[in-house]
Formats: sequence, structure tokens, C-alpha cells
Amino acid sequence: MKEVNSVAIVGASPIEGKIGNVVLKNVIRSGFKGGIYPVNPKYSEVMGLKSWPRVGDLPKAPDVVVIAVPPKAVHGVLAESISVGAKLAVIITSGFREVGNVGLEEGLKRLVMGGGIRVIGPNSAGITLMGLGLHASIEVLPKRGPIGLIMQSGALGGVVIDRLRKLSSGISFFLSLGNMLDVDVNDAMEYALHDGETRAVIAYIEWLRDGRGFIRSALNLNAKKPLCILKGGWGLRSSEAVRSHTGGLATSYEVFKAAIRKVGAYLAEGIDDLVEVCEGLRRIKPIKGRRVLIVTNSGGLGVITASHLESMDLDLPRPSTALQQELRESAGKAFTGSNPVDFGGDASIDQVVEALKSRRIASEYNLAILAYVPTAAEPPEKLCEAMKLLEGCGVPLIAYFDGEGREEVVQHVSRYVVTVTSSITAGRLIKALYSRARLLSLEGGARALH
Ligand code: COA
Repeated sequence: MKEVNSVAIVGASPIEGKIGNVVLKNVIRSGFKGGIYPVNPKYSEVMGLKSWPRVGDLPKAPDVVVIAVPPKAVHGVLAESISVGAKLAVIITSGFREVGNVGLEEGLKRLVMGGGIRVIGPNSAGITLMGLGLHASIEVLPKRGPIGLIMQSGALGGVVIDRLRKLSSGISFFLSLGNMLDVDVNDAMEYALHDGETRAVIAYIEWLRDGRGFIRSALNLNAKKPLCILKGGWGLRSSEAVRSHTGGLATSYEVFKAAIRKVGAYLAEGIDDLVEVCEGLRRIKPIKGRRVLIVTNSGGLGVITASHLESMDLDLPRPSTALQQELRESAGKAFTGSNPVDFGGDASIDQVVEALKSRRIASEYNLAILAYVPTAAEPPEKLCEAMKLLEGCGVPLIAYFDGEGREEVVQHVSRYVVTVTSSITAGRLIKALYSRARLLSLEGGARALH
């Protein structure tokens, strides 16, 4: 949607804790500039706003109707929304296909098919469109940023938003698709493709309605903006859980994996790598080779990082003699090993950062990893000051900080450098950056042939 002039919240309530209360509060708090219409026949006013008994009583047709009334009342509200000419209904109410009430959901579908309205849900956590200042959702208000979220789980959307905030990032939109009665993953990817604020996309998918359409939309989207996907339900029990969560048949994991390979998108194994790899793909330009330099102050962390990268088929060549010399001189300190370059536990962040500023690194490596365990004398603010100096240092850089207070450190330094919370994720991100470079060069080649 390019424009939303007004929102009706049906089931809006002054009672703390009720869903209609949370949604209305979030719409008001998000600073939405258009008309906000609470609809509930019990009240003449809710949160200082005039309340209307029914959608049909509103002074003009709302663009968006958010529905948070009991399941049996949804049909009537939706019918009325269609008759007044609303453009989008977001049904937060659950209790449909996912609990076996297939008939109730089919009734809604029939209405939608005849009616010129688009519907998100039912069983949705709501929508957030940051560009329009609209947060019509039961989730906490997210930080604004460049990542679009397409989620078949509302709560998981909240988790991803929290993770992004901890990486100093935020979202451009969040569509909680629920049972996908009408708007599905493919529609949401179309939206992401054309949304000017969105630079990369995270999707959590349990099932697909149209596999071919998915490949088409995902190919288009991923060619322009990195697409990172977590698939829910890849075993027998978890597939059963999908049916009672979003009412669909979990798409086979093998089939899904094959589709993702075709698309060239990133398939995550968990929430951390989903979010961290997406942020990395957004911030670091794709890399044309797999030569990686590891710089560390911890022998152990360096060895573990090197082991993970090697097992992922990444190359860890030794630095040339000239580079070794330069690293030593810039750091003002000797190191052991050759890759990982280990400056030892008595090195300061300033020394390690000085080494990483060496221009020669970029001529020998495609990317560098800083694997660092801060000492007690290095609080997050100090690390931040040091990392600031590495912005635009020449070689693409990933920072992996570990040890006590890691969360706080990551929250601080991620403002200046891409951070990961494990060496496995570091490896996965590097591979994704390399694959993306190949994908884009193939795309470029294909375009040149036409
Ligand atoms: N038009 C306008 N308002 C209506 C209405 C109608 N046709 N029918 C009922 N209402 C109002 C009620 O007056 C009530 O107001 P109050 O809260 O001030 O008393 C409000 O809607 C809610 O109705 P109520 O009967 O109290 O239901 P509830 O709050 O117990 O449950 C839902 C309603 C939608 C929250 C519940 O059915 C539900 O689906 N919960 C789960 C939601 C969820 O998890 N979604 C997925 C997230 S990922």
C-alpha cells in the first residue's frame, strides 16, 4: 500500500491487556497521522477518540480495517468493510482453520473472492508499515530500519525485531500473514520488491500456496534485495505443529530447499543466523572470492573460527611476508600463527584495529574476521571508539566478539561494523556473500546476453 489515510480498529477496547486495547494503543503511539477510528458498540469513546458502533457508521470508508472481535463476529465485520469500500482488512482473530474451523474460514474466503478487498490473516499479529507511520499490531513498536519482515508467525516477528534492534538495525515493514486466507508470501514479496525503504528481506515460512509463484516472486526479489528465509516444520512432528499453528500443510523441506537453491536466496537454520546473515548481506558488498584473514586476541577463538571456516570450504591462506611485516608494524606488536593472526591476550583493541587498517589486507584477502574477547579494561564504549576507525577500512570486515557482556558489546559495536555471535554464522555469512556475488554476476551476464 502506498497510502493509508485512515484505520479502523474493530473491537477497540479501553480494557488494559485486551487485544483491541493493545492494537489501538500501538496505532496511536506509532504516531499515525491519518484518521484513527475505534469501532465497538459498547463505547462512545476509547482512549480519547470517538468510538463508532459499526464500520458502516464511520464518517468515511477506512483504508485499513483491523479486526479483533471473536471469530463468529468476523464475517459480519468483514462483509461490512467490503460494503463500505475498505481496501485492506487485517484479521487478528484466531480460531479458524488452524483449530479445525475450516467452514468459518471458507465463509470469509467466499466474501473476499467477490469483494475488491485484500485480507491479511486471520490469525495475524497485525501489520507495521514504517514509511506510513502505521503500527497496527500486537507486537511492540519496532525500531525503523531497512529490513522487511514477512512472517507466518507473529511472535517470531517480535523475536526478529528484538534481534535486529540488538544489531543496531530495524524494520521497514512487518507483515504477519497468519493463515494466509488471501495475501500470501508471494504477495508480500511483491510488496517488498517495490517498497523503497526495504533493502533486504527476512521471511519465516511454514507452507506455500503456490510453489511456482513463490519461485518467480523470490527470484525477482532476491535479484534486487537479499532474501533470507527460515523454514518452519522440517520433520514429522514439526509439520504437524504447522497445521495447528497456521492451518496449512507444511511444504516438504527437501522440495523447499531445492526451490531456494534455484532462487539463490539464503536459507537459515535458526533465528540468529537468519538475522545476522541478513544484516551482513545488507551491509557488506558481495565478495568475489573466499580468501579470509582471521585476526584475533585469543588463540582458542581463532582456532575454532578457523576450524569452522575450513569445514565450510573457505580459504585461509597465510599472509605474504610483506603483509606480516605490515601487520606487526601497524599493531606495534608481534603475533603468533599466520592465519589466524593471534596478537595474544595482552593485546589491546587499539593494536588489533591498527593491524586491520593495513591497506594490503584487501589485496590479499576478500574479507577479514576480527575474533575478539575484550579484556576487563575494555568496556563497550572503548571498543566502539576503536571499531569506528574501521569503517571503510578497505577490506570487508566481520566482527565476532565473545566473552562476558557480549550482548552489550554487540549492541554497541554493530553501529560501526557487521557483527555475528558465532564463528559458524561468520562462515555462513561469508559463503552467502560469495554466493551472492556469483548470482549477481550470472544475472548481469544473462542481462548482457539479452
Ligand atoms: N463490532 C465491534 N466490536 C465488537 C464486536 C463487533 N461486531 N463484537 C465484539 N466486539 C468487541 C467487544 O465489545 C469487546 O470489547 P471489550 O474488550 O471492551 O469488552 C471486544 O470486541 C472483544 O470481544 P470479546 O468478546 O471480549 O473477545 P476477546 O477479547 O476475549 O477475544 C479476540 C477477541 C479477537 C482477541 C480473540 O478471539 C482472539 O482471536 N485471540 C487470539 C488472537 C491471536 O492470538 N492472534 C494471532 C496472533 S499471532
